[in-house]
Amino acid sequence: MKKLISSMLAGALMLSLVGCSAASSSGSSSTSSTSSTTDTKSGSNLIGVAMPTQSLQRWNQDGQNMKKELEAKGYKVDLQYSNNDVNTQIQGIENMITKKCKVLVVAAIDGSTLTDVLKKAGDNNIKVIAYDRLIMKTSNVDYYATFDNFKVGVIQGQYIETKLGLKDGKGPFNIELFGGSPDDNNATFFYKGAISILQPYIDNGKLVIGSKQKDYNTIAIQGWESAKAQARMDNLITSTYAKGTKLDVVLSPNDSLAIGIVASLKNAGYGTAAKPYPILTGQDCDKPNVVAMINDQQSMSIFKDTRTLATKVVEMVTSLIQGKPAEVNDSKTYNNGSKVVPSFLCDPVYADKANYKKILVDSGYYKEADLK
Ligand code: BGC
Repeated sequence: MKKLISSMLAGALMLSLVGCSAASSSGSSSTSSTSSTTDTKSGSNLIGVAMPTQSLQRWNQDGQNMKKELEAKGYKVDLQYSNNDVNTQIQGIENMITKKCKVLVVAAIDGSTLTDVLKKAGDNNIKVIAYDRLIMKTSNVDYYATFDNFKVGVIQGQYIETKLGLKDGKGPFNIELFGGSPDDNNATFFYKGAISILQPYIDNGKLVIGSKQKDYNTIAIQGWESAKAQARMDNLITSTYAKGTKLDVVLSPNDSLAIGIVASLKNAGYGTAAKPYPILTGQDCDKPNVVAMINDQQSMSIFKDTRTLATKVVEMVTSLIQGKPAEVNDSKTYNNGSKVVPSFLCDPVYADKANYKKILVDSGYYKEADLK
């Protein structure tokens, strides 16, 4: 295997003797750049980084961190965002292949849509790392680096369990469940993790799903869109909570959904002493959501330090370029329908109003002044 990788890399090196131009590809925003610290004559050190969208803070940070860390190691970087548009992402990756990138780092918009374009990458001996989201239905993905997605859901479920005192037998409480985008492999991991904690309480009646909506297709929010989450929460309030039934908790898998849920609750008059916001989970610790935590509108958010993920992926890139195997800590969980992709899972933690200063400010992730 090692031999195979080395010979593939040697082939890629041969192929990449043509200089890499760093022009923007049509339809996607590209921020290619050149490092001053390396020999750029051959253009053989170009790394393509494809991110889904600039509309969510987390992906902007992921992109910036990746670019900064790769450049610090002397690589050139072609960073592209695709407005959450699958075809734009495919075009962007095709462009990176044409520019003869050595390694592609891809956070897929829809994990199942990249089979053909990654076949081209494979045919050109370009290595592929799936970033945060697993790329499905292809053998042309070498590694996967992410946070432990099941654990993200577990932590959200445990937060609810603790805050409600479920372990002490308290209840019954009314809950509503939201799921992430069905085309994102992570989304079902988040849900299964949370449900692994909450299911016993649903079974013993201490958690009551007021709307009875539990089926994943019913609770899932396509594209992780805030507006769609807001619309679903509006409907839930009208159908189930308009006549004084108390809503105690909402499981939201991430921050973009939580933003929509808070907007809906606010419009419906939540946020007073008589009608406080329900416990509400999230993920990413986006700035507006940290502000919402400080203002008691959102209870917690999973903190996935994108600096850690970027460092890990840059290590993987370096190993691939050197023809060495990359470090992994999971070789069984992430089957993409074509193979089990060797993975490195970083550890998620949660932040809330009580600990955000320590977790987010003292660690240098945010400045207190940014959280207004
Ligand atoms: C990521 C989350 C993010 C969501 C929406 C998921 O794949 O793991 O961190 O909130 O996508 O962008």
